[in-house]
Amino acid sequence: MKGLILSGGKGTRLRPLTYTSAKQLVPVANKPVLFYAIETLLEAGIFDIGIIVGDTRDEVKQAVGDGSRFAGFASKIGLDALEIRITYIYQEAPLGLAHAVKVAQPFLGRDRFVMYLGDNMIEESIRPLVEKFRLAEGDCNCQILLKEVENPQSYGVAELDATNSNRVVRLVEKPREPVSNLALVGIYMFDHNVFEAVNAIKPSWRNELEITDAIQYLVNAGFIVQPQQVRGWWVDTGKQADMLEVNRLILDRLEPQIEGVVDRDSQINGKVVVAKTAEIINSVVRGPAIIGEHCRIVNSYIGPFTSINHHCTIIGSEVEHSIIMENSQILEIHGRIEDSLIGRNVVVEKSPIKPKAFKLLLGDNSRVGIL
Ligand code: DAU
Repeated sequence: MKGLILSGGKGTRLRPLTYTSAKQLVPVANKPVLFYAIETLLEAGIFDIGIIVGDTRDEVKQAVGDGSRFAGFASKIGLDALEIRITYIYQEAPLGLAHAVKVAQPFLGRDRFVMYLGDNMIEESIRPLVEKFRLAEGDCNCQILLKEVENPQSYGVAELDATNSNRVVRLVEKPREPVSNLALVGIYMFDHNVFEAVNAIKPSWRNELEITDAIQYLVNAGFIVQPQQVRGWWVDTGKQADMLEVNRLILDRLEPQIEGVVDRDSQINGKVVVAKTAEIINSVVRGPAIIGEHCRIVNSYIGPFTSINHHCTIIGSEVEHSIIMENSQILEIHGRIEDSLIGRNVVVEKSPIKPKAFKLLLGDNSRVGIL
């Protein structure tokens, strides 16, 4: 089986971060969201992976490379890193998830495949479901994953047969009035019949070829579409609150490891990772939290559910339940920074005493909360 990860698209809901960077590369616990998708596929025994890329292709290619950076992960799961094959597939414009499948046809050929949206994260292994689909060749043309959610209008939604919950009746993309609270998780399994579907459907109201419509086509045409409900958590990281939530969930299962310098005046509590070359000076770090390489935390408090990526400097400040991306600085801010997503190369610093004023240099679509 092959894997197809979608890492194109626009990322409008995470602007301004996504003006300069792919949304799939925003880090969760200091690791890009996209890497979790790759690891989930590898763990499920899928090593031949195509990645759909768009405008941000150079950045995605630079981050993922030829896959050899996953050698450590591969050996942990008993896999030879040489088996990993990454193929980049360029999609000229984000014309929809089903359009991405069309573009990937030369790569996919007649193989069965798992399509994985590169901004989705899931708690449980998909290995059992992949195995089930692999073995069901001939008996199952498509497998969809469903999860009960409180806001089904933000997702594709499935209606199952009231008398047979194994039968999909209807699928609707972001319905105003949802027919159920079962959202389509961004992980799908298909056989080659999906190409008939993606070639038959027409663009939706948002001018995209919707994978939801393609699956509805399969249902209507009598192909077997098997629904599977997901038990653990699932997050579509498209928005700031979801990003912070998944950061919390991942940090919660952190293996503590202190490799950097922690001076005698500092205190580390709970599950904390301090990477080598990081320094914690006269500070308190209360886990779960992760501090990346070459960070300097001085006279500060880092609270639970905080990820600080490499080369950040935090001096005389308090940060909690936040993601700080690489190379940023928070200097002498009095008042705790919470629930924040701070991009790369950002400086947040105390203004000089006079004139007494906020001084802001903010990109389009930035959001600042001031006390
Ligand atoms: O997250 C699950 C939801 O994902 C499903 O419930 C919906 O049915 C499905 O349509 C999708 O909805 P979104 O509106 O969240 O999809 P989004 O546009 O965010 O794209 C998902 C991923 O696919 C993202 O990593 C960007 C990438 N993408 C998207 C499009 C439209 C591409 O690579 N190419 C594209 O043309």
